[in-house]
Amino acid sequence: MKKNRILVKAKSYLSLCYKELDKSDEFQTRWNSVKESIFKTGSYELKEFELSYGAKVAWRNSNRCIGRLFWNSLKVIDCRKLSEINDIYSALFDHIEFATDNGNIKSTISIFNRKLNIKIWNAQLIGYAGYKKKNGSIIGDPKNINFTKHCLELGWSPKKTEFDILPIVIKMGSNPPEFREIPKSIIKIIKISHPKFPKFKNLNLQWYSTPIISNMTLEIGGLEFHAAPFNGWYMLTEIGARNLSDQNRYNKLKEVAKVIGEKDFERGSLWKDKSLIELNYAILYSFKRDGVKIIDHHSASKQFMKFLSQEKNEARKVNAEWSWIIPPLSSSTLEVFHNEYENEVLSPNYFYDEDKRDNLS
Ligand code: ARG
Repeated sequence: MKKNRILVKAKSYLSLCYKELDKSDEFQTRWNSVKESIFKTGSYELKEFELSYGAKVAWRNSNRCIGRLFWNSLKVIDCRKLSEINDIYSALFDHIEFATDNGNIKSTISIFNRKLNIKIWNAQLIGYAGYKKKNGSIIGDPKNINFTKHCLELGWSPKKTEFDILPIVIKMGSNPPEFREIPKSIIKIIKISHPKFPKFKNLNLQWYSTPIISNMTLEIGGLEFHAAPFNGWYMLTEIGARNLSDQNRYNKLKEVAKVIGEKDFERGSLWKDKSLIELNYAILYSFKRDGVKIIDHHSASKQFMKFLSQEKNEARKVNAEWSWIIPPLSSSTLEVFHNEYENEVLSPNYFYDEDKRDNLS
């Protein structure tokens, strides 16, 4: 980034940070030293509390996220001191374990040193492999077919089931990429069953507890952290109305329809709609059964409305991207649906690393 641009972004973030944290009297001294550092070296470093607040505000500014009410309780782990690949893997495993907390999911981000050029190739730390067979049929999550290929090329040898947990691949600096399996003991898997349809469990559906996004860059005050994986807890419909049901994902609605007793597969029978509801109900039931935190779309909508009013009280404008905020199930029953939003992109924020996404997702 050009010097001028860093200067402008640094000033704008630091003034926001010091103002919101009631440290306005410390701003001038801090700004003088940041300015000097940018003039001398072209860049600067954030203090730990500036980093931590920046990651939170970046969440607050995430226009696509319906779960932002809790932005200020993000747990920020400063991993900038780590430089050995073993320590980085340990920190990622610690993140998984801490954030999962045996089901009591905690919103967490681990931020690694931006100068080490650490690239996490996974889209999420936990994800399912996808394999395309010679005859064109697919096993696993189609979303991860490309990434899975990379893993196989690196020498990963999976069982090739429908739900193989992918290893974590890291490339550091000019070193070749490395992959490591995540210890099974720290991953929580929820097997899906339905309280009213005993045959549901024969579908052998499952999902993991903790979605940890690892292909986005965190930008604070003009500084970019490419390795900064973060997680919240799941909203029900992400799994039930997308991951397991989208035609280009696990595409399970037909099988669900059969175990809930649907016989008529004409469009007008609404078998897809009924299957979606029962699939989502089963997921909610199963997460609760196992004590894993998840939020249904009705509660998420309520919380987002609360976020809007909370921000209004703080005299801040909320930006949002309608098509992402609106859950894909029963949308018109949700208050968030009947609202309009502006979609201005503020900083700090999280954004996609275009190269990584195009090559690997
Ligand atoms: N939609 C993604 C998935 O299904 C997860 C995105 C982040 N979601 C969250 N609840 N924090 O895996």
